[in-house]
Amino acid sequence: MDVIRRQEAAALERLDPAVFDYYAGGAGNEQTLAENVQAWGRWWLRPRTMVDVSHVDPSVSLLGRRVAAPVVLAPMAAQRLLHPDGEVGAARAAARAGLPYTLSTRATTDVAEVCAAAGDGAVWFQLYVQTDRDATEAAVRHAVRSGVQALVLTVDLPVAGRRERERANPEIVLPEGVTLATHTGRPAASTIKPLGGWDAALRWEDIAWLQDIGDGTPVLVKGILTAEDAEAALAAGVQGVIVSNHGARQLDGVVPTAIALEEVAAAVEGRVPVLVDGGVRDGGDVVRALALGADAVLIGRPVAWALAADGEAGVTALLAAFAEDVERALALCGCPEIGAVRRDRVRLAAW
Ligand SMILES: Cc1cc2nc3c(=O)[nH]c(=O)nc-3n(C[C@H](O)[C@H](O)[C@H](O)COP(=O)(O)O)c2cc1C
Repeated sequence: MDVIRRQEAAALERLDPAVFDYYAGGAGNEQTLAENVQAWGRWWLRPRTMVDVSHVDPSVSLLGRRVAAPVVLAPMAAQRLLHPDGEVGAARAAARAGLPYTLSTRATTDVAEVCAAAGDGAVWFQLYVQTDRDATEAAVRHAVRSGVQALVLTVDLPVAGRRERERANPEIVLPEGVTLATHTGRPAASTIKPLGGWDAALRWEDIAWLQDIGDGTPVLVKGILTAEDAEAALAAGVQGVIVSNHGARQLDGVVPTAIALEEVAAAVEGRVPVLVDGGVRDGGDVVRALALGADAVLIGRPVAWALAADGEAGVTALLAAFAEDVERALALCGCPEIGAVRRDRVRLAAW
């Protein structure tokens, strides 16, 4: 979409090159980074005509709440590095658009402040489990007390991916007065070099522990790419599965999410919501994801560029354009509501 291209160009102009690289980059040779975007295009849309689409309703029920469109803002670290509006600005823009906002463990704003800024808007809290379980528990309890509506446990980062662009750049210093991870109970960091200390021994048995300390808040696992892991996650009792390869920042060469989604959704069989992220860039991609079995998508980098380009107003502009494009794509595919998007709306192109 034009708005994404314009905002990315503005971000490139405004941001320090090391900061731009931090957001734009992927792991290894960035093969999966490129394929995450391109693989959606391998699914050709199969529109139906002569359907009454004079009213299109893109809203959907997600974790018991009506949201304006099947679109969620993905967790991304250190958003005050992009613009002083940071997490608060992005969460406010999301709330205004009627979409959930996911706050990263590595945020530069405390979860209580973000929930207060979002008002009635849904805020989800992304969790990296630390080796210090007491500190993790304190962070989760603080997030739940602050009013988050879901805990998004990221399971694809037992160790950090080999990100060449980050390695090539000097350590990025946060702006004066801005620190990372205040809600994790760790000493506040003033740079974005990997913090370390994440628990690489995390196992499916730990889901029950998280549900217990989360006091009934739904737990979604983020970073599932196989039917086997989807089944293990369901057996562990999760309330949602997010098909993700961490925006291609972990292991280069892993399957693009547009390809992984189908087998995960087939394994889940509608028992819990399935979400997907990675390279989703317009309304057509959202329809593709829904047809392949997703209940909603998450968007990452476009939100970073929007924030860098124009703070909260930039995110508002992006989300309005995105919602409008979802509505347009639904109409053009002959789908007056989300439930009408079924598997037969896409076919795989010959490779
Ligand atoms: C700069 C950056 C920081 C990220 N930080 C986190 C994070 O703190 N936690 C997390 O679970 N995922 C994180 N992600 C991954 C996103 O949540 C999401 O999976 C990915 O960006 C989606 O792909 P897209 O950027 O192509 O839309 C980050 C991604 C980027 C680009």
